[in-house]
Amino acid sequence: MQEKITITLSPLGKKLVVGRGVPLIDVLHEYGVEFPCGAKGTCGRCRIKLLAGELKADNLQKQKLNKLGLDENWRLACFCKAETDIVIEITQFEDIILADNTSFRFKPGDGFGIAVDLGTTTIVVQLLDLKNGHVIDVVTAINPQIKFGADLISRIQNCIDGNKEEMQKLVRRKTGEMIQSALQKHPVDVSKITLVGNTVMHHIFSGLDVRPLSFYPFDSANRGMQIFSPEQLQWDLPEKARIMFYPSIGSFVGSDILAGIAATKLTEKEKFSLLIDLGTNGEIVLGNREGIICASTAAGPAFEGAKISQGMRAVTGAVSSLYLENGLMQYHVIGNVPAKGICGSGLIDAMAILLQQEKIGMFGEINSGEDSVELAPGVFLTQQDIREFQLAKAAIAAGLQILLKKAGITFNEVENVYIAGGFGNFLNLQNVIKTGLIETDEEKIVKMGNTALIGAKMFLFEDETFALDILKKTRHINLEADPDFQDIFVEKLMLF
Ligand code: FES
Repeated sequence: MQEKITITLSPLGKKLVVGRGVPLIDVLHEYGVEFPCGAKGTCGRCRIKLLAGELKADNLQKQKLNKLGLDENWRLACFCKAETDIVIEITQFEDIILADNTSFRFKPGDGFGIAVDLGTTTIVVQLLDLKNGHVIDVVTAINPQIKFGADLISRIQNCIDGNKEEMQKLVRRKTGEMIQSALQKHPVDVSKITLVGNTVMHHIFSGLDVRPLSFYPFDSANRGMQIFSPEQLQWDLPEKARIMFYPSIGSFVGSDILAGIAATKLTEKEKFSLLIDLGTNGEIVLGNREGIICASTAAGPAFEGAKISQGMRAVTGAVSSLYLENGLMQYHVIGNVPAKGICGSGLIDAMAILLQQEKIGMFGEINSGEDSVELAPGVFLTQQDIREFQLAKAAIAAGLQILLKKAGITFNEVENVYIAGGFGNFLNLQNVIKTGLIETDEEKIVKMGNTALIGAKMFLFEDETFALDILKKTRHINLEADPDFQDIFVEKLMLF
């Protein structure tokens, strides 16, 4: 039998009894430790403090720690294996997941259903009574694939590198456990389960080949609806339960966006509306009842904290907003704890305020000539962070302009701009407009919450044709193929 050791997590006081030699990455992601660079040792975000016991660091790790300015008390969890009893301090991020309770239209049905929003970072499961549409339970968790990196490219690369089966197993098992946890509390007869997620999540969950998503033209022939029996997924559900992973629209526009189109009712409106998801992939959608066009932008996950030196998601310790009071910059930190980093909404506020104070110029240059600006004690925005913001902002703003051009309209003819996802929670719309990210009037912008989950719930009450009709009306376009894209992108790099 494998020898056991104990890992004590401070300040949680949690004791984990695990097999000797376990890689810390395998146990710590469950407790909120993040591995954004996918264990490359470059981001330092998996840092842990060794309080007692021994945790070996090889020369490579020592070099990485040194580069990150961390002394001998620190380790990178992604490099370590626990060989003895240890006490470590972890930075636990309390996730704020939008387990949306927004009301939505439904036709009463029979029995019970489960809607699943399978995100790159988080998974949300809701159990619903199909007779009255009431949400009976909500279970949220971090996607266990996070140990293979925060962004989609890392996940695809890990699949190609031979981890596809493990990633599939992890996500199927986690979702199944979440469903079981809801059903243990409420033992009801579930007949239908709808899953939505981006195309990479769809492919990994369904066991499809992700390689076509890794090279030009980044397309996969297997974007369709995937149907499973509980037995296939080894989920403890009645045999008759129908489990459906909804179809993707394009290579990087998944069924989470299809669900978002349903949730915002874009295909029912006479006037044009926009749907913008500033999450991992920066998806943008424009349309009305005549038809929909959509695209993914090259914004990358900058607004989720990736590529920003002290960037983090909107969780405990993140500077989520900044504002001016008597001419001085003030800040708010999620969870009322000392600031650890900055999330997307804080980044946008920072850019708007620094521009207003003329601390940065229209080309993004820091006017003092220094390399960074301090936003809150110990939280800095570097010149490189500003460049990353400009790239992400330009990708979204240029993408929106191309969609409007394709539809032959301007922002004036757009009735509503819906912002999807948890990102909207802390967003200061005036600053979104000031930085030129979305060039519209504040009154038109609607923070919609978790549109993927709202749409997945709507799918529970409809037959498949409802979603497939939306899919038929929706056309995926490649922004970079537009001859004006480069010029518009360069123009949008400027801040004004
Ligand atoms: S340093 Fe990035 S995951 Fe460990």
